[in-house]
Amino acid sequence: MDAFKGLPEAKVIWDPSELEPFRVDESHLRGVQPLAVVKPHGPRALRELVHRAKTEGFGLVPRGAGTGKAGGCLPTERTVVVDFSEWPGDIQVSPQDLCLRAPASAPLREVKGSAEALGLFYPPDPNSWESCALGGTLATNAGGPNACKYGMTRHWVLALDALLEDGEIHTFGISSVKANAGPALGQLLIGSEGIFGFIVGATLRLTPMPREFATLLLPVKRWEDLLDLPGLLCGAGYLPSAFEFFDPAVLAELRAHGPEAARRLPGEALAILEFDERGCTSEPFLEGLLDLLGPLADGLEIASDARQRQGIWAVRRLTSAFLKERHPKKISEDIVVPRSRLRDFFLGLDRLGCPAVSYGHLGDGNLHVNLLAAGETDPVVLEHQLMDLFRLAISLGGTLSGEHGIGLAKRDAFLALSDPAQIQALRALKRALDPQNIFNPGKVI
Ligand code: MLT
Ligand code: ZN
Repeated sequence: MDAFKGLPEAKVIWDPSELEPFRVDESHLRGVQPLAVVKPHGPRALRELVHRAKTEGFGLVPRGAGTGKAGGCLPTERTVVVDFSEWPGDIQVSPQDLCLRAPASAPLREVKGSAEALGLFYPPDPNSWESCALGGTLATNAGGPNACKYGMTRHWVLALDALLEDGEIHTFGISSVKANAGPALGQLLIGSEGIFGFIVGATLRLTPMPREFATLLLPVKRWEDLLDLPGLLCGAGYLPSAFEFFDPAVLAELRAHGPEAARRLPGEALAILEFDERGCTSEPFLEGLLDLLGPLADGLEIASDARQRQGIWAVRRLTSAFLKERHPKKISEDIVVPRSRLRDFFLGLDRLGCPAVSYGHLGDGNLHVNLLAAGETDPVVLEHQLMDLFRLAISLGGTLSGEHGIGLAKRDAFLALSDPAQIQALRALKRALDPQNIFNPGKVI
């Protein structure tokens, strides 16, 4: 362990029993035992780590709160986990510049809360928003229900501070939405899962906090009736801030075994729709919406207060953990298709005979297709099922991950199914930015 002796500005963990928690995240995978875990407390630690990684030939794996879904922060052979949970820095909001500066270690919950305290909104809201760290959301370009209207994490980043292979922290971008001096290199780091360098802080874009919400429960008798709705609404000028759904199987399971609030959920399948623009609770807005929905509006329920709204969202937010508890070896995918192809996607899934259940972000075509029996399925059969699923999404103009990223979990599929020119370009960038392959080796490409 000489490589870590006298490392400045850092806490080092190498007791094997204490390394165990760093071998898992929220994917179904398990990493190898890392050489050590280092919690850097300042730039000198990073400078020295990069130097030692290069001279002693080990890799560096970034870690935030370990809530990733694709194994991006899991250690591979001969790597040190760089855990940013103790990276220093405060959250500073600038209402004048409509932005917020925060270190990678900042809990996303505090980032959102600091903005909200000043009447401002930072929209990215992955399901793990109460437990994840900002750095992880930047490295993975996290999504969430609000992406339907507001886009992904990358759409809310003005500037980034990132550790590059020279061992120094560099800043890309400025505190303004208008910055056009050449290509946006910072954007390359967002969603890169740490393969080009490590993000240590960011300046985020904010917008005024929405103050009015119309939250609707839309049960349907025939579940296919939900599938054209996202396109219909958007085409008619109704852009929901969130449009989530449960297919019949997920809804039935929630109703039978879920918490009290889930037992009363109506319908064969169910959508949660939310609008947040000014006037969305007014009669003209809601009447227009009802007209558009036609007979589908029959069972529509509108949350009448904040408590009901919270109750609806609580059920949606616990769905992933609920299914995981009941099917511990399940695999949850996050394919995406354009919203206009949702019907074709589910027809295709039926044709494949894929034993899957689905829920998730219907409004932007990002579906959590879950293979509940993955643990009991022959691994070769399982791999075919997953590849068929990814091919189907791609054939409809979609892709294999809408929000969770590639990491380790989808690396083989990503390499097999992507345009070879894209992989070649990514590898050329990797060689240019990280010639000794010290940053998160074995991930993504
Ligand atoms: C969610 O939206 O609930 C999560 O992103 C899905 C998951 O856990 O697979
Ligand atoms: Zn999701």
